[in-house]
Amino acid sequence: MSPDWAKSFQDVPRSHFLPDVMWPHDMTTGLCVAVDKRQDPQAWQRYADSDDPVVTQWDDGAHDGHEPGKVFSSSSSMPSLVFSMLADLDVKPGQRVLEIGTGTGWNAALLAHRLGAGSIVTVEVDGAVAARAREALERFGLPVEVVHGDGFLGYGAGAQRAPYDRVIATCGLRKVPFAWVEQSSAGGVILVPWGTCYGPGEATARLVVAEDRRSASGPFTRPVGFMRMRSQRFVRPRHDEYVPAGAEETADTSFTTLREAELLGTGGFDVIGFALGLRVPGVAHTVDREREGRRAVWFYGRSDRSWAVVVFRAGREEAKVYQSGPRRLWDEVEAARRWWVEQERPSFNRFGLTVDADGGRAWLDSPDNPV
Ligand SMILES: C[S@@+](CC[C@H](N)C(=O)[O-])C[C@H]1O[C@@H](n2cnc3c(N)ncnc32)[C@H](O)[C@@H]1O
Repeated sequence: MSPDWAKSFQDVPRSHFLPDVMWPHDMTTGLCVAVDKRQDPQAWQRYADSDDPVVTQWDDGAHDGHEPGKVFSSSSSMPSLVFSMLADLDVKPGQRVLEIGTGTGWNAALLAHRLGAGSIVTVEVDGAVAARAREALERFGLPVEVVHGDGFLGYGAGAQRAPYDRVIATCGLRKVPFAWVEQSSAGGVILVPWGTCYGPGEATARLVVAEDRRSASGPFTRPVGFMRMRSQRFVRPRHDEYVPAGAEETADTSFTTLREAELLGTGGFDVIGFALGLRVPGVAHTVDREREGRRAVWFYGRSDRSWAVVVFRAGREEAKVYQSGPRRLWDEVEAARRWWVEQERPSFNRFGLTVDADGGRAWLDSPDNPV
């Protein structure tokens, strides 16, 4: 904790912004279990004060009861991550901030404590979540402007709030809207969790808005795992739509000497998945659970139904590969990994992102070296 943020974290407890029923998320097991303040206030408080992410809404609100729902649709992020992102945001007194993804309102409250409630606008797509956050912020005495709307549009000039010195998104995106650049001041910072469709993980991009405000560009700072913006969710491919029964019999087969660990690294936060996603566009992958020493990793071409699978078996030197469809997805993934090795295995902060009116482009080392 850096001294500039310590007082805000001390004075603005996360517990004030959490609902009575919530679902702390265990990062190692991936499981969420309900905690009800009325039934077990001590456990509730322990989780509120822990460094765990806490799910606060399932299935866009179409969920009832204590059992977890299918998709978590609002949450309070890990406090250590909230802090890291605020540190990356690097706010200064007098600055105006736009937050996308109000959630519980806690992050907006921390910013309001630091900069004054009138300096923060926060946009939340879910009406019930927005109303709850607005109420919690008012009750706490930090009446931030909470806007119910689609944060993809920002909160623009018509509302006479822009330009902002800082934009912070607390949901993940695949496509950063140019509206955020247009609504920022020159030299402003846009901090956004950004990922491809390769898998659900992201890294935070710290984009600095150019003097002419026609683009924003900067490196990735750290790997993160966010729920994505509603309209940009990571949708798991439906396996049977790609690989009908018996399809493996007609697929091309080959063998690879690439090891499972070389393909997957240490899991979702490893840079290898991020790098492969940048190099192999429009491809999603899923990793099967290991069964009896056998693990399959599947690749799905989003636009043309190409698919591939590599099957690793414990103790074997080579893994069998099946590929089908117009693209040879495994060949692409293997080539992408070779490229990453040739670039001396760059980590997150050698990669960066530029956003302008034409869209977004990821790069390695400098904006003129697109990936
Ligand atoms: C991880 S939570 C945000 C955590 C929050 N900053 C806090 O302090 O509790 C992500 C939020 O983004 C919201 N969201 C998703 N898509 C959005 C969109 N298009 N515009 C605004 N908010 C969106 C979700 O409803 C959810 O509440």
